[in-house]
Amino acid sequence: DRSLKIAPSILSADFANFGAECRAIEAEGCDWVHVDVMDGHFVPNITFGPAMCKAIRPHVKTVMDVHLMIAPADPYLEDFAKAGADVLTIHPEAGPHLDRSLQLIRSLGCKAGVALNPATHESAIEHVLDSIDMVLVMSVNPGFGGQSFIPSAVEKVRRVRAMTGDRPIHIQVDGGVTPKTAPLVTEAGADVLVAGSAVFKGGSVDTPSVYGDNMRAI
Ligand code: DX5
Ligand code: ZN
Repeated sequence: DRSLKIAPSILSADFANFGAECRAIEAEGCDWVHVDVMDGHFVPNITFGPAMCKAIRPHVKTVMDVHLMIAPADPYLEDFAKAGADVLTIHPEAGPHLDRSLQLIRSLGCKAGVALNPATHESAIEHVLDSIDMVLVMSVNPGFGGQSFIPSAVEKVRRVRAMTGDRPIHIQVDGGVTPKTAPLVTEAGADVLVAGSAVFKGGSVDTPSVYGDNMRAI
């Protein structure tokens, strides 16, 4: 299914209200919920782990899309699968054996994604195209929400779409997605757009902090 899907990143949500924030974005019509897992080692920021994913799972009726910015990833894949992840995306740099990690993800019953950092060449996925369900083209360097969209991601999306051919592979774009940048990447072939700061006000609030109109504008 290559129709456009919006995956708000709860990295920009109210950290004291993840359950309510997930319910709120789904009520506003999002398609997936994107969960950014960071370890303070592979990326310079720390977020949350499998226990948090398990806690929000009952509040996510759509797809729980877990982006693992951790190294190594293999020792934790089973924990995230048990926590209810539908999609597990890893970075090739997290190593050591990309193909083995992807096989493990699928054997755990999850969809497997590979994330390409802005400076990572798309040749990294050339030999695993039949082992993946999604390519995540990073349009910022991973680690933080609210960064500016890196324009070279647009042509990378186009090259990845040419590589994937007729395979049922999603192309997701993550970082600096706004109503302005979204059409550039969808035109190039992306079908899942992650948006954090464009969708959530963040901060500590008692009521969900979702910009529903902004999300639908993407
Ligand atoms: C960055 C994360 C993104 C980020 C997107 O490491 O993977 O998901 O939260 O945030 P915005 O949409 O604010 O760029
Ligand atoms: Zn992400």
